[in-house]
Amino acid sequence: MPFCDGVRLREAYRRAQAERFAFMANNVAEQNILIGLLEAYTEVRSDLLVQISAGAAKFAGGGDKRAGLRALSAMIRELAEPYPICVFINLDHFTTGEMELIEEAIDDRLVSSIMIDASQESFEENVRISHAVAEKAEGTGILIEAELGKIKGVEDEISSDEALYTDPDEAVEFVRRTGADLLAISVGTQHGVSKGRDLELRADLAARIRDRLVESGLDAPLVLHGTSGLLPEQVREMIGYGVCKLNKDTHYQYVYGRTAAEFFAEHAAGIVPPEGVEDDVVNLFAKGDWSPDKKVFDPRVVGGAIQGKVREIALALIDQAGSGGKTLWDKEGQ
Ligand code: G3H
Repeated sequence: MPFCDGVRLREAYRRAQAERFAFMANNVAEQNILIGLLEAYTEVRSDLLVQISAGAAKFAGGGDKRAGLRALSAMIRELAEPYPICVFINLDHFTTGEMELIEEAIDDRLVSSIMIDASQESFEENVRISHAVAEKAEGTGILIEAELGKIKGVEDEISSDEALYTDPDEAVEFVRRTGADLLAISVGTQHGVSKGRDLELRADLAARIRDRLVESGLDAPLVLHGTSGLLPEQVREMIGYGVCKLNKDTHYQYVYGRTAAEFFAEHAAGIVPPEGVEDDVVNLFAKGDWSPDKKVFDPRVVGGAIQGKVREIALALIDQAGSGGKTLWDKEGQ
């Protein structure tokens, strides 16, 4: 049961708004990052929001996005099952090219929420597309996130060379006309490796967007994309301005790569044949004296190290978001 639907997710965001904390929204494309996250979030009693991007679905499905989406959704549900927290699944940056998949995810209730990203389109087209997705999800409980403005940088299949800041008045019109449950805003964060200290983060703009929404009777939680590399004080400031969801992909990709790089550097002698030994992978070195060491080349060994490191970094990020100790699982007495 730990997979929780959009109805519970709405409740989680309401609580986050009322108690001024946020959820890190963590991208996964395989199981090692997911397991590290499940361990960390359970340890500190936080609900967990995991995201599947269109690129991750394509990767997990060996090029077939539909297969990858279904496989990742099933894997997350199965692995989450024994953990006593709510685990939510969000589709991240799904675009007009993935409309059929969005419909399938809604029809088959594969996820708790969906981000439709039509931010590359004109304002009117963005409204039309986002509204169509919100309409499709109506009555299912699945929450819809839509984006207004453009975030600089590259995220999977989405890229922009320029940042286009979200206009507070347009934000009100956009949320009203689309019926989106969450609003992703552009206030100076960037996708990819970015350094918080160099960003021109417009916290004032986030505050104005939040104020304009509240004045207009709209309470859509704000979403910040491109938050890998933000400083803890920047995270806290943005949460103070109504941001309830902070997207992180690059940070975990780095943790994965770095842990693997260090592990393989340390254990290279057990994997790569020394000079003078014939490099005979085809026969698994059967003809010579030298043998590789299964204790270090088995992918489960480096996988375990990655899970442990992800757990450690996730704990620090949960601390920034303030979601520890707030699981709805306790509240329901389950
Ligand atoms: O939706 C995904 C995130 O916005 C990725 O941001 O590259 O800073 O991790 P990031």
